Amino acid sequence: MKRKKVSIIGAGNVGASLAQLLVQTGLSDVLLYDVAEGMPQGKALDLAEACPLWGSSVAINGTNDIADLQGSSVVVITAGLARKPGMSRDDLLHANASIVGGVAAELPRRCPDAVIVVVTNPMDVMAQLVWKRSGFPQRRVFGMGGVLDSARLRAFIAWQLGVSPKDVEAMVLGGHGDQMVPVKSLVSVKGVGISALLPERKIEEIFERTKGGGAEIVSLLKNGSAYYAPAASVYEMVKAVLLDEKRLLPCAACLEGQYGAMSLYAGVPVVVGAGGVEEIVEVPLTGQEKAAFDRSVSAVGRLVAALAL
Ligand code: LAC
Repeated sequence: MKRKKVSIIGAGNVGASLAQLLVQTGLSDVLLYDVAEGMPQGKALDLAEACPLWGSSVAINGTNDIADLQGSSVVVITAGLARKPGMSRDDLLHANASIVGGVAAELPRRCPDAVIVVVTNPMDVMAQLVWKRSGFPQRRVFGMGGVLDSARLRAFIAWQLGVSPKDVEAMVLGGHGDQMVPVKSLVSVKGVGISALLPERKIEEIFERTKGGGAEIVSLLKNGSAYYAPAASVYEMVKAVLLDEKRLLPCAACLEGQYGAMSLYAGVPVVVGAGGVEEIVEVPLTGQEKAAFDRSVSAVGRLVAALAL
């Protein structure tokens, strides 16, 4: 069987870390694309030279030519500017829309059958933009946000309880922005609901830290944003597509009536398999959670309107 090819648009920190995960685990061939001359080629060569040590037989190439996207099963879009301290994800809207819009317009010609994973911020809006500009079916365009936000929440709960993060489950829904919605009924440790394990006040504190999780890293790094956990999050999604795993993951998907939203991307639980978003799952939310979800989705809607999408 021919190996699948994953193309990564943007060979910065998230793109390169994702490339490493894919190559090191031998999941797929990888193409790293960037506009910076020599940079994707250099990173690809470095990764290729690590393959003998990792025991990996996949191919990894770098390019500045968008035509090389042909044959991709999955395209991950990470290209764009990252946040600086004090910036919200939304401050990146116009600069990143022009970069991501340009890439999206190339997709139908280069890889018409690919599944597209959008990472560039503000991510939900960029996913909407890619869907509109590419003309791809909604199910083949989705965004990474919820897996990362949920991983952060799982880590914080695990540290608080002194248990392995492996045993903590959580889903953060809504837009991947300051108004994201951690859903308490979906946080558990091996099935034990979090309310039985931590006082309300502590749970609220951890939810607040989760909402500011990206900004916490930006303020520490000072000249960039997170990339190890974001890359690991995209890896989960790409793997679910390539191996047709049918994982239930919180991802930005286009809502068509679900959760009361129309033709708008936001983070919801979805079944991820070879077709991309194979199903959107509606989970019960409390009145307060639904109100928070609606506010978060409205914030995405305002940015979508600002781009006239
Ligand atoms: C974060 C950025 C990548 O949450 O959105 O770290």
